[in-house]
Amino acid sequence: MAAVTPDKVDGVSYDLVIVANRLPVDRVENADGTRGWRTSPGGLVTAIEPVMRANHGVWIGWPGGTETDLEPFEHDGMSLAPMTMTPEEIEEFYEGFSNGTLWPLYHDVVGKPEYHREWWERYVSVNERFAEKAAGLAAKGATVWVHDYQLQLVPEMLRRIRPDLRIGFYLHIPFPPAELFQQLPWRRQLLEGLLGADLVGFQLPGGAQNFVRLVRQRVGHRTQSGTVFLPDGREVRAAAFPISIDAKGFEELARKPAVEKRVEAIRTALGNPKKIFLGVDRLDYTKGIYARLRAFAELMGEGHIDVEDAVFVQVAVPSREQVEQYRILRDDIDRLVGRINGDHGRIGRPAIHYLHNSYPREEMAAFYRLADVMVVTPYRDGMNLVAKEYVATRYEDDGALVLSEFAGAADELRQAWLVNPYDINGMKAALLEAYRADDRETTRRMRAMRRQVTQHDVVAWAEAFMTSLTDLDGDGPHSTIVKPPKR
Ligand code: F6P
Repeated sequence: MAAVTPDKVDGVSYDLVIVANRLPVDRVENADGTRGWRTSPGGLVTAIEPVMRANHGVWIGWPGGTETDLEPFEHDGMSLAPMTMTPEEIEEFYEGFSNGTLWPLYHDVVGKPEYHREWWERYVSVNERFAEKAAGLAAKGATVWVHDYQLQLVPEMLRRIRPDLRIGFYLHIPFPPAELFQQLPWRRQLLEGLLGADLVGFQLPGGAQNFVRLVRQRVGHRTQSGTVFLPDGREVRAAAFPISIDAKGFEELARKPAVEKRVEAIRTALGNPKKIFLGVDRLDYTKGIYARLRAFAELMGEGHIDVEDAVFVQVAVPSREQVEQYRILRDDIDRLVGRINGDHGRIGRPAIHYLHNSYPREEMAAFYRLADVMVVTPYRDGMNLVAKEYVATRYEDDGALVLSEFAGAADELRQAWLVNPYDINGMKAALLEAYRADDRETTRRMRAMRRQVTQHDVVAWAEAFMTSLTDLDGDGPHSTIVKPPKR
């Protein structure tokens, strides 16, 4: 790996470097035919943008696509350093090792992980490129925060080139139990990659425990509760930081008159059913969309729910469409929706309104406001921010949330109707209970969940991670991280 001199690359260096597979912007075509950028609607950017602004930060990531002539640029006051990706890297690093190996393995093998040596080699080389880029942009003693499963080797690679840096890593998806993780032919390399960080953050305490246990068993380092002791005297801390959303922002959006108007327009377009069920997911096999629609259809077939009274709106955001398992899933859902509507729909009244599309935040807020029963039933999910977004928009403390026990969010949203998504009968019972629940019951549950979500928002999450990271070295030789002003 090439040695990189700090402070020299691109003529600028930064005290805070965010490294994520994706940049927080999408390509857009302007009216005059020129190309520009639009901030993507994710929660991560909401959390990190203020910290970046307060600390002279830069965000390194891939903007999608295969453009090669990408220069660092400023957008919305953020410094962005785009990474290019060749078609081979997209195929073998992104679609292959990241989403064909790690994604299914880390999600309890809900899909079958594939292990290919070429994919692994490409994962190593792309991680190397990210590490080198970060090394080149980080000022002396800077803080680097690396995100997610696509970049687990970056902490160690970066530390090798730049031992002066303070490095944090956060995993947005679950970290699997040892019994599954040890399938990986490259398990030791991945663990060592993560151990390059000073702090490794997980969604839930279970993820941190799985990691520490694996480090002890597979790498042989001494550990004590959440701390790993490396032979060179360095310590690595593993802990949980459950991610959240911009709760206030979502509530403000939901209260907008334009959103309220949109809610009424959609309700009318749906034919004014008495109740509306809603599912919102990336079209991913971990999300349990198929089973939830089947459960709903069975309730209709058994006469518990009539299509004149209730409909199901399922938003499925297109995702990773070049990956085989995602194509198969799309075909399966298309077929199922067709069958359910054929069996239970009437003229002008389909039972399932299926939308294979992505929508801006405002439209999503309108969907959430519309939903009497929000159905979030993944087989495994790191957190699931949709569940939290729904709760944030229900400012009248109404609406029912049916939530999988296997979503990280279930740890916090205990008052949801919790379900095991593998148990169709259990899921049917919960859907029916939520559908029939009276206002007192839904209010009692929603009030408690809203308290949780508003008190633990994404800004608090970013602050908690940063504080833990900077506390580790006390007044060590690193740059100070300034807290952004409260909004
Ligand atoms: O949190 C999981 C995650 O893979 C993120 O890293 C990513 O931004 C999001 O889901 C969407 O996935 P993708 O970047 O593959 O479109």
